[in-house]
Amino acid sequence: MHIRSILIVASAAAGILGAPLAQANEALLKKHNCVACHQVDKKMVGPAYKDMAKKYKGQSGVAVKLAEKVKKGGLGVWGKVPMPPNPAVPDGDIKLMIEYILSL
Ligand code: HEC
Repeated sequence: MHIRSILIVASAAAGILGAPLAQANEALLKKHNCVACHQVDKKMVGPAYKDMAKKYKGQSGVAVKLAEKVKKGGLGVWGKVPMPPNPAVPDGDIKLMIEYILSL
């Protein structure tokens, strides 16, 4: 397990540090309505965050690639259903959401 996830899990269990950060990033996914199509551990319209983490965790440059996909939308990686583009979501928020997804 990645050191940072250990920290987040440990502090979430203890109810102190890390947890507020993970919660803040999770809240962004609600704020930007990603939750309409994505859930943490269940496939809905789009893939589950945990499945994305499994597929991409540890790959170099993947955060940038995924951020671009969120911004511009696209299809074909998980099936024939497209993700619509999200041009209004700030790049900083996208970065934090991707970090959160890849930490799962
Ligand atoms: C209308 C439904 C919908 C919404 C809203 C949506 N997504 Fe998606 N998302 C999808 C679908 C469908 C896919 C699979 C696309 C594919 O197969 O290439 C996907 C794929 C992804 C992927 C993986 C991309 C890849 O190439 O593997 C990420 C990361 C992602 N979404 C993040 C987000 C984030 C962050 C938001 C909110 C800003 C969001 N999605 C909003 C439907 C959605």
